Amino acid sequence: MFDPARFVQEATQSLEGSIEGKAVIAVSGGVDSTTAAVIASKALGDRLLAVYVDTGLMRKGETEQVRGILTRLGVHHVVADASEEFLDALAGVTDPERKRVIIGNKFIEVFERHAREFGAEALIQGTIAPDWIESGGQLRDTIKSHHNVGGLPAEMNLQLVEPLRDIYKDEVRVVARHLGIETAEKQPFPGPALAVRILGEVTREKVAVVREACAIVEEELERAAEEEKMEIPWQYFAVLLPVRTVGVRGDLRAYGHTIAIRAVQSVDGMTAAYSKVPHDVLDRISTRITNEITEVNRVVYDVSNKPPGTIEWE
Ligand code: XMP
Repeated sequence: MFDPARFVQEATQSLEGSIEGKAVIAVSGGVDSTTAAVIASKALGDRLLAVYVDTGLMRKGETEQVRGILTRLGVHHVVADASEEFLDALAGVTDPERKRVIIGNKFIEVFERHAREFGAEALIQGTIAPDWIESGGQLRDTIKSHHNVGGLPAEMNLQLVEPLRDIYKDEVRVVARHLGIETAEKQPFPGPALAVRILGEVTREKVAVVREACAIVEEELERAAEEEKMEIPWQYFAVLLPVRTVGVRGDLRAYGHTIAIRAVQSVDGMTAAYSKVPHDVLDRISTRITNEITEVNRVVYDVSNKPPGTIEWE
């Protein structure tokens, strides 16, 4: 039986023993990096700096939520607002892998600035077992480049410490609950964030549309699960498609955006089955999206499994 108290105690002691100077960690808002930051903070106090990079591509309310958790749990942190830099760097780029590379590089650049300024000698990462297994190793092909593995340039010469390296997601959630991290049950969210949920070029306007649509999908599916109409999907979100279709708004023909709803059941993200969302729930999501986001006039539901589809559309 996995014992979270014991895990935290051992991980804390191990960090105390292995890091002498200052350390940094990038907190994405996900359960892994938040848990790693809280454990590292127990070991290092203000010798740790947690850096949250606001890429401008985060979900609705996410930055405020992360700030709140880190403050409440006493983690020494900084919120780096780099949204303009990210959106400028992504202008005109449509290829999904190029988007990932640009975001990954920009992320490292911003994070590195803070790490240098703080004088960090060690880098703590919230890598968990499936991250390094899925990111190649000798075990699997890299299907999409995951930017959360790889870290900072070698010349920074930081000692890499990965306190969650040997545990799996379900165990991380147990540890997070034990530590009082309120996002312990949060669904997975990709490193490149909303950028891979906007097919084609990322613009400020499109980010605003997909952010609102994702928030509606989350709210309505969580409500439906609470009302026991369905099981909560493993992952659920909206995708903004690069097609416009003809519709009517009032008495006028409108040429609007299309949103695809994606909801899947999965154990580890390696395979997935689309969720059988009840029609009245889909109906409510569609009505809300088209009423609340005037740029959108059509909503479709994705009934693909993985394989052959992937969970994200890019
Ligand atoms: P796919 O779309 O490959 O996604 O079926 C499997 C899981 O991985 C997430 N995902 C990513 N996570 N960086 C990440 O950190 C990425 O570039 C990335 N692409 C996909 C996806 O949300 C799902 O949970």
